[in-house]
Amino acid sequence: MEKIELKKIIPQWKVKSKVKKLGRKIAKDYKDKNPILVGILKGSFVFLSDLMRQIKIPHEVDFISVASYGSEKKASGVVRLLKDLSSNIEGRDVIIVEDIVDTGLTLNYIRQNLLTRKPKSLEIVTLLDKKQRRKAKIPIKYIGFRIANNFVVGYGLDYNENYRNLPYIAKMDEKKSKAW
Ligand code: IMP
Repeated sequence: MEKIELKKIIPQWKVKSKVKKLGRKIAKDYKDKNPILVGILKGSFVFLSDLMRQIKIPHEVDFISVASYGSEKKASGVVRLLKDLSSNIEGRDVIIVEDIVDTGLTLNYIRQNLLTRKPKSLEIVTLLDKKQRRKAKIPIKYIGFRIANNFVVGYGLDYNENYRNLPYIAKMDEKKSKAW
């Protein structure tokens, strides 16, 4: 495996406290609504599993998996559905759970796709937001942290499928991030 320098940018305690805050806010906003959280695989599974335990109201969880055609780190906006939801979301309050919104192209595709199924409402929660790189305009209701334009790993986010297990968010060394 390639040796890569990592620099911690969001420590574990900050992630934890932010996830708690987001969970409380969502629980308050969705009281008595029994929302469905839709995690986008694979990156969001760590965030989702912590977040759902902080949403202390009844809710359901489902997953969707997409592959983006593009280079290893760059989304192209052309998306292939690998795994669809198991649930019918018509008339339901749906919250898409994303690890990071970068160009927004992937999320835009998923959002448009889910909207055709006529949910009662559809909102987005993301742990990280790299707004500078946005190409698609999407409304994001809940944002954990706004971060600069670096390639980051940890807490579910990977580089070539590695580093998902880090309990914090780290950025890759300058050279790699610049190439990004
Ligand atoms: P977007 O379509 O450009 O917004 O890309 C979204 C997806 O690209 C995310 O769900 C991640 O899987 C991946 N991605 C974007 N930026 C990063 C990053 O800095 N680290 C790891 N994965 C990333």
